[in-house]
Amino acid sequence: MKSVYQGKTKDVFDLENGTYLLKFKDEVTGVDGVFDPGANTVGLTMEGAGEAGLKLTKFFFEKINEAGIATHYVDADISNRTMTVLPAEVFGEGVEVICRYRAVGSFIRRYGKYAKDGDRLDAYVEVTLKDDDRNDPLITDEALEMLGIMTKKEYEILADMTRKIAAIVKDELSQKGLELYDIKFEFGRVGEDKHIALIDEISGGNMRAYKDGEYVEPLKLEKIMLEG
Ligand SMILES: Nc1ncnc2c1ncn2[C@@H]1O[C@H](COP(=O)(O)OP(=O)(O)OP(=O)(O)O)[C@@H](O)[C@H]1O
Ligand SMILES: [Mg+2]
Repeated sequence: MKSVYQGKTKDVFDLENGTYLLKFKDEVTGVDGVFDPGANTVGLTMEGAGEAGLKLTKFFFEKINEAGIATHYVDADISNRTMTVLPAEVFGEGVEVICRYRAVGSFIRRYGKYAKDGDRLDAYVEVTLKDDDRNDPLITDEALEMLGIMTKKEYEILADMTRKIAAIVKDELSQKGLELYDIKFEFGRVGEDKHIALIDEISGGNMRAYKDGEYVEPLKLEKIMLEG
């Protein structure tokens, strides 16, 4: 098994049979010991976070595959905390796509002059560059094309897929009495035809969910979704 990348929350291996293996770790992103899904530092370790994250990822990716939306997901082995996926070529050095239903976090930090915490946003999509040194800057579709990161056509497909996938997650959460405020995805080009597919993971650390106006921590969210 060849190591491809050691990430903050997952390690990536090449199985050299046309698939990659993602190993989920117990580290979660945060600052000064406080969990923050938007942070670029691993602030804390939470016992069981890797397994819970993988379980929720498996749950959502199977739903999304069933809906006929392309993903990298092949299968998951919960006891080994691993997931088999199709290798993807990321856009540039990686982008993140956010879908927002309510204003929180970086949206407020950026647009706080015009929006307040909890305002409704109607599945607003935005793209950021994965660039820790520059704090993951927001980027427009024009700049994405100009810088050779993705074409306008790819942007349109990606934004459309983002809204469809977020709607699936939102619906699953609402069935458990949770409201999805925002969620972050990664996409890449997969296969010889380089079709756009959802990659990476969808766990509690990728989204903000609220219950009766109170933020729900990732591990708690995973419990509610998978047991409740
Ligand atoms: N199917 C795939 N093919 C290739 N790379 C993938 C695939 N799925 C996920 N990845 C990449 O694997 C890495 C997983 O590691 P991890 O989630 O720890 O990421 P990171 O980049 O270190 O941190 P962060 O996601 O917080 O920026 C990410 O860089 C992600 O883009
Ligand atoms: Mg990651």
